[in-house]
Amino acid sequence: MKLYMVSLGPGDFELITVKALRALKNSDAICVPTKSPDNSFTRSMTYKIIQKLMEEFDFVKPIIPMYTPMHFKTEDWQNQVNIIHKSFEEYNTLSFVTLGDSAVYSTVYYLLDLIKEQNSIVYEKSEVIPGITSFSNASAKVKKPLCIGDGSFSIMPLHKKDVPNTTVYMRPKIGMKTAEIPQIGQMFTFENLNFKGENIFEQRKDIVDKYMTLFIDFVQ
Ligand SMILES: C[S@@+](CC[C@H](N)C(=O)[O-])C[C@H]1O[C@@H](n2cnc3c(N)ncnc32)[C@H](O)[C@@H]1O
Repeated sequence: MKLYMVSLGPGDFELITVKALRALKNSDAICVPTKSPDNSFTRSMTYKIIQKLMEEFDFVKPIIPMYTPMHFKTEDWQNQVNIIHKSFEEYNTLSFVTLGDSAVYSTVYYLLDLIKEQNSIVYEKSEVIPGITSFSNASAKVKKPLCIGDGSFSIMPLHKKDVPNTTVYMRPKIGMKTAEIPQIGQMFTFENLNFKGENIFEQRKDIVDKYMTLFIDFVQ
């Protein structure tokens, strides 16, 4: 059993990662969100990307519609989780797909939180596959960096004020003491991700050992 939470990138099928494409090809079926209550895909960007990928890379998978009304209600996420659980009666490997990157305002973590509470086996067998965000794509299109030199950048939702703020801290100096990095939520330390000596600590490491270190203060 395997549940892939697959980030599809910002809408251009060529901006999907190799890992995401492999996950889709390895899946027995693909769960695709739709805003249409009749489960049609006429307005679904996600569906179009999946169709294009299947055409271009020569594979065909059954599509499981996931009605996603975007009302931010637990019952709507629960319905989607129920569909995933039910689908595992028929299929062994499933992908749930989301636009852009799953880390940024995606349904993925509403679903995973419920799955974690309700079915620890499926949660353990789940894997989140990251993707290219809409704003990375926007930056590339106009050839303007989001941050460079001493700069930083923020992501702010426009629908509300005074929102919780997760912060990513990058570009530390080797040997630097980290006690002064502000911490509001749960701080993680990531070292040498995907390289030799990868380490992930569920805390702020006291002293920076490697240049390839980033800290994330998760406040959600
Ligand atoms: C629910 S969030 C999803 C973000 C997505 N997970 C990502 O990684 O970019 C939707 C918002 O992302 C932005 N967005 C997503 N795709 C976009 C696109 N293709 N063009 C412009 N903005 C986009 C818009 O601000 C939109 O309201």
